[in-house]
Amino acid sequence: MGQITLQGVTKRFGEVEVIPPLDLTIEDGEFVVFVGPSGCGKSTLLRLIAGLEDVSAGDILIDGKNATDASPARRGLAMVFQSYALYPHMSVRKNIAFPLKMAGVSKPEQDRRIEAAAKALNLTSYLDRRPGQLSGGQRQRVAIGRAIVREPSAFLFDEPLSNLDAALRVGMRLEISELHNRLKTTMIYVTHDQVEAMTMADKIVVLQAGRIEQVGSPLDLYLRPKNVFVAGFIGSPRMNLFSGAAAAEYGAMTIGVRPEHIRISGQGGKWKGRVGVSEHLGSDSFFYVEDTGLAETITVRADGEVTLHHGDTVWLTPDEGKIHRFDTNGDRI
Ligand SMILES: Nc1ncnc2c1ncn2[C@@H]1O[C@H](COP(=O)(O)OP(=O)(O)O)[C@@H](O)[C@H]1O
Ligand SMILES: [Mg+2]
Repeated sequence: MGQITLQGVTKRFGEVEVIPPLDLTIEDGEFVVFVGPSGCGKSTLLRLIAGLEDVSAGDILIDGKNATDASPARRGLAMVFQSYALYPHMSVRKNIAFPLKMAGVSKPEQDRRIEAAAKALNLTSYLDRRPGQLSGGQRQRVAIGRAIVREPSAFLFDEPLSNLDAALRVGMRLEISELHNRLKTTMIYVTHDQVEAMTMADKIVVLQAGRIEQVGSPLDLYLRPKNVFVAGFIGSPRMNLFSGAAAAEYGAMTIGVRPEHIRISGQGGKWKGRVGVSEHLGSDSFFYVEDTGLAETITVRADGEVTLHHGDTVWLTPDEGKIHRFDTNGDRI
């Protein structure tokens, strides 16, 4: 079991309220991602759940029981950090065994759990090495192994892949998703990277300045962002946001159009402009179109084989059905 409920959870550091009263329920078995810009309170929220920080107000319930004052060890949760926090002088086996030893688990049971975790994480042949003899990805797997053997009711990950290079990050992202499919244990995963959030989550919680901006599935957030902040945060490259006359025409303060919802033509269209920077990724091409008469450069996504050059004149037409409208408060109309 691993249902976690936050009721009016608040955190102040001295005078500063980092997390205003916050309510959230994470269902048993869910993969929930907390995403938001650096400094928005993701780690603080995770540490409150783990019991590494005390709440200033509010309650934390784990499987319906009030755990607000329970010590971290009694909460039955396991945390994995960005810095792997492995003991350099201990073998992989001893690193993984460490929490079990602390908890007084018998030696045969320790061995059983270590073997199982090592197998799940492809670490079997590395058990006798020290962390210094492993790659970054392998070290992170050891840190995850140390969490798995505790058989927690939920895993808490704080930006676990930030120290890895791009290719390894993608690989580990898949491994963690597979691990979740297999274990079906609740996972709360913190990241500033919206691509990680979109690819891994059942449910995304978008945070800004300690507040929840929106909770929903990746597609909910992509298709129906509740406000300008979420619209601009989810999606890569980011949604084009226009104000002024362009928005007034649609009865809005701000309108948003995703780069993939704008068509390019050589002649005839809504906005005429000139190609500035082009990015060719092979699968897609991105064009940054300037001098359209709008204040903002327009980002357009096109098929990978579309080639345009700096200075080319193009016409752009948004898909009218995919335009997002926002009011003066930035809320979705
Ligand atoms: N121990 C602390 N004392 C004072 N301020 C803190 C402490 N820990 C975090 N903060 C502040 O709380 C805010 C949220 O921090 P954090 O949760 O680490 O953000 P994130 O993980 O989203 O980058 C930041 O403004 C940070 O400076
Ligand atoms: Mg953080």
